[in-house]
Amino acid sequence: MTEPTSGEELHDVRLNVNGASYDVKVPARRLLSDALRHELGLTGTHVGCEHGVCGACTVLVDGEPMRSCLMFAVSAVDARITTVEGLAEPDGSLGPVQQAFKDCHGLQCGFCTPGFLTTITAGLRETPSPTREEAREMIAGNLCRCTGYQNIVSAVVRASTLVEERALRDGRRAPSSGTTPASAHRDGCCATSSGTVSKPPSGGSA
Ligand code: FES
Ligand code: FES
Repeated sequence: MTEPTSGEELHDVRLNVNGASYDVKVPARRLLSDALRHELGLTGTHVGCEHGVCGACTVLVDGEPMRSCLMFAVSAVDARITTVEGLAEPDGSLGPVQQAFKDCHGLQCGFCTPGFLTTITAGLRETPSPTREEAREMIAGNLCRCTGYQNIVSAVVRASTLVEERALRDGRRAPSSGTTPASAHRDGCCATSSGTVSKPPSGGSA
């Protein structure tokens, strides 16, 4: 964490985070990750390496994944920032990527999870129907010490299905043809669209 030194000049900054505006006073070298956690109290953004390596601190800046430990808070003025807290549905229920991690048991200690969730949220906009190989590429910049990644890869594929299903449900996307989403045929984890377990987890290769 970047502690202000005595006499350090403070700057008035307005941060737009998860659709809300926050006015904060920060030193010029205050990291965005620290401002989110300590000024705004949004502690869902985790800080691991503070060197841009682990991805735990990843947030979305204007929709793009960004290491918040590599960005100064003063640089984020005028940007739309989304943290893991902003990934829930408007009614407070789990967003599709969050739900997929729950369905596929994509976490253990959970320290890395916020960074994966934000990264995958952006990744699925670029690659809406990823194969498992594409899912692995999507998360290649995020480190997890617990899971071995297998279930996280499954969660990416599962999330793509949920994003598609919810878009159809909410009328944000028209069915391409017939009534079955293309994603229904993709390999995901053990959960069905209703959230029930239909077959045991593979536990095999990612
Ligand atoms: S804490 Fe930012 S990349 Fe590790
Ligand atoms: S779940 Fe523990 S580091 Fe990823």
